[in-house]
Amino acid sequence: MQTRFTLPQSSIPTHWYNLAADFPEPMAAPLHPATRQPISPSDMYAIFPENLVAQEMSAERYIEIPEEVRDVYALWRPTPLLRAVRLEKALNSPAHIYYKYEGSSPLGSHKPNTAVPQAYYNKIAGTRRLATETGAGQWGTSLALACQLFGLECAVWMVRVSHDQKPYRRLLMQTYGATVYSSPSDQTEFGRKWLAEDPDCPGSLGIAISEAIENTVTHPGTKYSLGSVLNHVCLHQTVIGEEAIKQMEEAGEEPDIVVGCAGGGSNFAGISFPFLRKKIAEGKKYRVIAVEPLSCPSLTQGELRYDFGDTAGMTPLMNMYTLGHDFMPPSIHAGGLRYHGMSPAVSHAYKLGLFEAAAYPQNSVFEAAVLFARTEGLVPAPESAHAIRAVVDEAIKAREEGRKKVILFNLSGHGLLDLTSYDAYLNGQLRDE
Ligand SMILES: Cc1ncc(COP(=O)(O)O)c(C=O)c1O
Repeated sequence: MQTRFTLPQSSIPTHWYNLAADFPEPMAAPLHPATRQPISPSDMYAIFPENLVAQEMSAERYIEIPEEVRDVYALWRPTPLLRAVRLEKALNSPAHIYYKYEGSSPLGSHKPNTAVPQAYYNKIAGTRRLATETGAGQWGTSLALACQLFGLECAVWMVRVSHDQKPYRRLLMQTYGATVYSSPSDQTEFGRKWLAEDPDCPGSLGIAISEAIENTVTHPGTKYSLGSVLNHVCLHQTVIGEEAIKQMEEAGEEPDIVVGCAGGGSNFAGISFPFLRKKIAEGKKYRVIAVEPLSCPSLTQGELRYDFGDTAGMTPLMNMYTLGHDFMPPSIHAGGLRYHGMSPAVSHAYKLGLFEAAAYPQNSVFEAAVLFARTEGLVPAPESAHAIRAVVDEAIKAREEGRKKVILFNLSGHGLLDLTSYDAYLNGQLRDE
């Protein structure tokens, strides 16, 4: 029985898919933080190059992937699709469970799908250095390598809890040539303010973003790069779903349910947006589920309103599900899901009822992660394990209802550098905050 579905290198997608072109009603425009009027492209040129701003605002359905980017994608794309037959058996479920494995990239996650084009577009626009933030370190390592491949310098503000919990990711970023600061840092006015108020501040993605933006606007030749949330990031990630559609065809099945974990929303957008296109254009009835941590539940408990993407309030105001830009998430181990807001494109799709959302406490997430590791062999990233939790619950429901369901999920990254959180779980030290 075939359980692994691979595509040849020639099947690397040639275009990214832009869901904005197919929304039944348009997304609300981002607003200028000072005037509260819709932002113009030139307002963003201080932190992003023009070519990426054009993508951010594009209404084109398909955007061609430059050859230089596809050449780097060829290091790991197309990623494999696998059927988790041993997990199905362990659950004694009639469900067929498929996962798209983005952890097979050299960086161990989906993040290089956008780090590579962002570095490329900055390089051709004349940028010399990129500044960014990172939570778990997955994004920072991806941008560090992408910058190295395109000859850019890279500076990363890493959320302090992850910086302290995950020294190996910091070492990886440094191996790829990046400079890494623990955030809040003494490198920026905003960081110094936080340190003065609370020397033990664990940091947050919102603070680290503010620091990276402050550094960008005070350093000529530097631009800012964001690893999630924005339209162009979601766009770049759609290679995941485009490949998955072909691979499901190869497997001879169509998913009933499509699942992804959601932090800022980019891997969820990546797996789901091409399926949402089929839902909108072809009337497909997929159930699509975004899964978030109960401790940082922007979709399930946040409000849809204009809010800042960072803590200091330097970004444009975006219409998104948010817990408030000053929300300080508890130090859960899924560092990559500790973000107060949700991508405006994902938020808009949620508002339009195109998908559902679920939230889980971390112990139940790790229970599913360990079951997956013990059956399929792969140790998932704690972020990705949120999707696995939902998949396991859907497979159990399928068993109880006696119905075959085809479930597809995105395994956004491996957890081999997250073993301290497994240690905490296995020793009963994880708290459900
Ligand atoms: C493996 C993994 N999955 C998911 C996420 C969440 O980000 P996003 O919602 O943008 O995919 C992260 C963020 O760092 C991550 O490292």
